[in-house]
Amino acid sequence: VDVREFNTFAVPAMAAYFAEVTTLEELQQALAFCRTNKRRFIVLGGGSNLVFTDKIDALLIRMALRGVECTASGRDRIVDVAAGENWHELVRYCVGQGWYGLENLVAIPGSVGAAPIQNIGAYGVELARVLESVTGWDCEQNVLRTLNAQECLLSYRDSVFKHQLKDRFIITSVSLRLSIEARPEVSYPALRAELVDPDSATPEQVAATVASIRAEKLPDYRVEPNVGSFFKNPLISAEKANELLARFPALAHWSMPDGRVKLAAAWLVDQSGWKGRREGGVGVHPKQAIVLVNYDGLGGHDILAFAAQIQADVLAKYGVNLDIEPRVY
Ligand code: EPU
Repeated sequence: VDVREFNTFAVPAMAAYFAEVTTLEELQQALAFCRTNKRRFIVLGGGSNLVFTDKIDALLIRMALRGVECTASGRDRIVDVAAGENWHELVRYCVGQGWYGLENLVAIPGSVGAAPIQNIGAYGVELARVLESVTGWDCEQNVLRTLNAQECLLSYRDSVFKHQLKDRFIITSVSLRLSIEARPEVSYPALRAELVDPDSATPEQVAATVASIRAEKLPDYRVEPNVGSFFKNPLISAEKANELLARFPALAHWSMPDGRVKLAAAWLVDQSGWKGRREGGVGVHPKQAIVLVNYDGLGGHDILAFAAQIQADVLAKYGVNLDIEPRVY
């Protein structure tokens, strides 16, 4: 199958095998197929955070488990969501029900099952703040296992699912702890600036405002194929940050609780002259320098070659390595 329609970068690539799974039994059948035929598998959610490069000699498993269940616990609402649900639809549904906590994470593309892998975060909130647990199939132990939030080792765009449990744990559902009490998070400067009265904003207003900021800055992948942020915001030592700040006083940065400093990759790319630059069929989005757009349906190798030029320029000018955010296959 051609996977072009299964990745928001619109990279054309051929996968040897494809299966859509809607139940745990179907997932187990797909894995049995891999064992019998000695094939790898790749689990696909919304396809909005990956870059295909070569021919995919694997079974592509499209996660399509569905369902949302809510349990009340005092003023909290524990919401169990199957991995194949769409993240944005879930946020809209929860805000509509008056279950709060996800409003800042509105309009993020992708599936619920993918959310813990990179600990999705935007406008001052990360999934870590509301995650209760993650359930999935452990392909080594052949059991369904639940990890509590601590065991998921969530940090900035990172989790246990990118390391010890990479390619081993298939997330089947995610449990969130929301609340019927509205406690809007309005500290992110770009969000604050857009709210009429930030300190009395409702969760509904926060969701609407974040959605409009995103719509303004981030390209719609259906029109301009992209995978959201292509680069992670680099984390550097305070010492290195002070050196850089002495040379570049306008450097966009945030101090992290662990003492490190997070730089805005978008600022580094922008200041290196790459914003809006396009070469061949791939370019940096004119409104958000952290986003690459695959204008002409190029393959992953071409996109990575383009990105490598940006990485080299940023390294030469600032001495900072830009890591790629999506997973490369
Ligand atoms: N900036 C520039 N040039 C630009 C854009 C931004 O210099 O073209 C500077 C500005 O100084 C701005 C700073 O970069 O203050 C940060 O920009 P922005 O608020 O747009 O956020 P970001 O750091 O570029 C991160 C996430 C986004 C998330 C936003 C909002 C990562 C890798 N990206 O981007 O997440 O929506 O914050 O919270 O952390 C994604 O992961 O796919 C994603 C879109």
